[in-house]
Amino acid sequence: MRIDIITVLPELLKSPFEASILKRAIEKKLVEVHFHNLRDYSTGNYKQVDDYQFGGGAGMVLMVEPIDKCISQLQQEREYDEIIYMTPDGATLSQGTANEMSLKKNLIILCGHYKGVDQRVRDMFVTREISIGDYVLSGGELAAAVFCDAIIRLLPGVLNDETSALTDTFQDNLLAPPVYTRPSEYKGIKVPEILLSGDFPKIEKWREEQALERTKKRRPDLL
Ligand code: ADE
Repeated sequence: MRIDIITVLPELLKSPFEASILKRAIEKKLVEVHFHNLRDYSTGNYKQVDDYQFGGGAGMVLMVEPIDKCISQLQQEREYDEIIYMTPDGATLSQGTANEMSLKKNLIILCGHYKGVDQRVRDMFVTREISIGDYVLSGGELAAAVFCDAIIRLLPGVLNDETSALTDTFQDNLLAPPVYTRPSEYKGIKVPEILLSGDFPKIEKWREEQALERTKKRRPDLL
């Protein structure tokens, strides 16, 4: 998979890709992530990428021309499956969307800033608009990092057995059951006996019951 991220703040976006699982995925060449600074595609002396909105109102809008130039250049080099715009008015990101996107080959992710992008960018290029939740961030960069993490960890070979994505919360519409590690007793609080029994079919059944119980209590909307 290849992901091209277009942003006015590449420095805000880079660090999540330089640690832990995402770093390893890149080192193992399971994913390529490229950052494109929108200012490199601006025309004029001031490297302008945003402007006041027509009709008045607070907040700047990212201009269509630099974004057009950047996307068009990328599209000349390869075909993209999706051009995704991170925005609070997009469809809320779900595990289902992450699963679907993890099967794509080439993705462009466009990060909004200030008041967002000129509507013509959305009309001309964007194939999908994604929000990471009903709250407004200062820009799409942190949302793009969340989205990339959710999809990259699903790529075959990224996670090993211990971190397998198959037992994640949401993967089967249930929250994950409680987990414990050593010691088996801490300050008088014991790990449930069943987990120490070695009876794996029983443990599996207990985990399913716990997952269901937790989901009923915390997220009945998932059931
Ligand atoms: N940009 C600003 N807020 C956002 C959000 N909640 N999701 C995606 N992109 C955003």
